[in-house]
Amino acid sequence: MTTIPVFEPVISPDEIEAVLQAIQRGEISGSFGESIPQFEEEFSAYIGCDYGVAVNSGTSALQLAVLSAGIKPGDKVLVSASTNIATALAVVHAGAIPVPVDSEDITWNLDLDLVEPLVDDNTRAIIPVHLYGHPVDMDRLMDIARRHNLIVIEDCAESHGATCRDKVTGSFGNMGCFSFYANKVITTGEGGMVVTNDKTLAESLRSLRNLAFTEPRFVHYEAGFNFRLTGFQAALGRAQFSKIDRIIAEKRRVAHTYISYLRDIPGLILPREMEWALNVYWMFAVVVSPEFGISRDELMHGLSEKGIQTRTFFCPMNQQPVLKSIPGFSDTPCPVADKLWEQGLYLPSSWDLPEETIEYIAECIQEVRNT
Ligand SMILES: Cc1ncc(COP(=O)(O)O)c(C=O)c1O
Repeated sequence: MTTIPVFEPVISPDEIEAVLQAIQRGEISGSFGESIPQFEEEFSAYIGCDYGVAVNSGTSALQLAVLSAGIKPGDKVLVSASTNIATALAVVHAGAIPVPVDSEDITWNLDLDLVEPLVDDNTRAIIPVHLYGHPVDMDRLMDIARRHNLIVIEDCAESHGATCRDKVTGSFGNMGCFSFYANKVITTGEGGMVVTNDKTLAESLRSLRNLAFTEPRFVHYEAGFNFRLTGFQAALGRAQFSKIDRIIAEKRRVAHTYISYLRDIPGLILPREMEWALNVYWMFAVVVSPEFGISRDELMHGLSEKGIQTRTFFCPMNQQPVLKSIPGFSDTPCPVADKLWEQGLYLPSSWDLPEETIEYIAECIQEVRNT
């Protein structure tokens, strides 16, 4: 039986050639060659920001962003409840306290109606996550943030190219953090980038990425990190980036094809695109409501027996054991994020998935439901 993976990276010969050439030029570490600054310049310009700081993962991008924002031990940072643990851990590693904000039922992003009641005197920042490629309503969020003087760090790990009222995610907040992990919209293998319009923040990010070197060399005043991306990874990133419009168009094709085959199945809740949004459908995620007739786990099991890989939604931050043990952490109830964790899954979402495969997956979903 052949397996249909939940995601498969597409690396083409020109991309392999770009990596080889970078290696031949000696761009093997994070301090050599032109590929890193070129990638930073091209990608940040695409987002609409003046500066880009490439790092070795989306997790590192978030961690540097939180530290550069001056978040200190004891501060509170609001985070989307439904997200990858990396979002909350960036806050934890700064000694601060993540505060989960429950999701809303339509886009599955953080519920903006819940933000203001959670703000108190210690709340310094908010990290909205553009989940599965659907943007948060950043115009509304920025309004709330301005009223409460909150720093905004966008987690764009899943939203390269997604827009809110035609403005690209990552360009609204003080900083936008991207991941270039293998399954992301574009990849460098492992990798990430922070984008910003703030020169001081960019300088701080650059310094912290590289052990906070100063003059004289080898005397250090700050506790930095080695979060450098390598030159050949940046070369892969540039080659991938040159195709980003096509990749996003293909991701949208995959989503629209799934929607055309799945839209009439009772109880299967499909991803939405608000009228002000462009959803890049990083993964094609669905929610299995009780009306579907069988549970999410039964559906996953049935699909797996037919060779179709799926993944659950994220375990929400209010339920994370690693966060619950943090002094001062308050696991505010997040009933919607809890429900998404219990009922949500995503289907195979490679951007080159052919229509026949999507049709087959849709038939299998019907079969599993009817048995
Ligand atoms: C929402 C979100 N934030 C952060 C990350 C962390 O990125 P990385 O895997 O590149 O460290 C991921 C992904 O993997 C993610 O999905």
